[in-house]
Amino acid sequence: MTHEHDWDQSYRDTDRMWSGEPNQALVAEVPRLRRGRALDVGCGEGADALWLSAHGWEVTALDPSLVAIERGQRAAEVADLLVEWVVGEIGSRTLPHDDFDLVSLFYVPLPKHSPAVDAVLSLVAPGGSLIVVHHAEFEPGHGHIDPASILTPADVAGRLDAGWRVRVHERRARSVSSGAGAHHRDDIVLVATRG
Ligand SMILES: C[S@@+](CC[C@H](N)C(=O)[O-])C[C@H]1O[C@@H](n2cnc3c(N)ncnc32)[C@H](O)[C@@H]1O
Repeated sequence: MTHEHDWDQSYRDTDRMWSGEPNQALVAEVPRLRRGRALDVGCGEGADALWLSAHGWEVTALDPSLVAIERGQRAAEVADLLVEWVVGEIGSRTLPHDDFDLVSLFYVPLPKHSPAVDAVLSLVAPGGSLIVVHHAEFEPGHGHIDPASILTPADVAGRLDAGWRVRVHERRARSVSSGAGAHHRDDIVLVATRG
């Protein structure tokens, strides 16, 4: 277990936790990348996985919360989109593929020194890309997450060796209409390509 938060319970507490909109960095960056097979790590209710599928990607979506995954599955059925849904945590779950053209992590609260980062990096195929987005700031005492203890895009950037090319690593304003994360105003965005 890489965290103590009960994500299933959090999702059960509300009919819909997130905005249902695709991530702004995903929409901005993905058209520049080689299209193929994508893995969305910590997919939550699936908005990003659905957007990728609608834009021609073959998508695997992973999350430890069955409640969230079931919401994604229902949304995919309604939209008539194909996504391979997997319940589990990154690093402790064998995935149906190990050669993704894109691996995304949006606001996933992994521990700062998580060994799961090695798993994430190894899942990116040569020529494939990684996109990591997290909030630029957390209010002290907000929610269940200790901001100092979680993995940031900068931490991931620090784990990339010479075989990676960083394309983007910057702070960006964001605008999200609704949902539990709507109060966050800025993201840190990391996009890196392997090989
Ligand atoms: C803040 S939510 C973000 C959900 C989604 N990425 C989005 O942007 O709407 C974080 C998600 O990460 C998932 N998560 C937490 N620990 C994880 C882990 N070790 N591996 C994969 N997903 C994890 C949670 O279940 C939750 O759905």
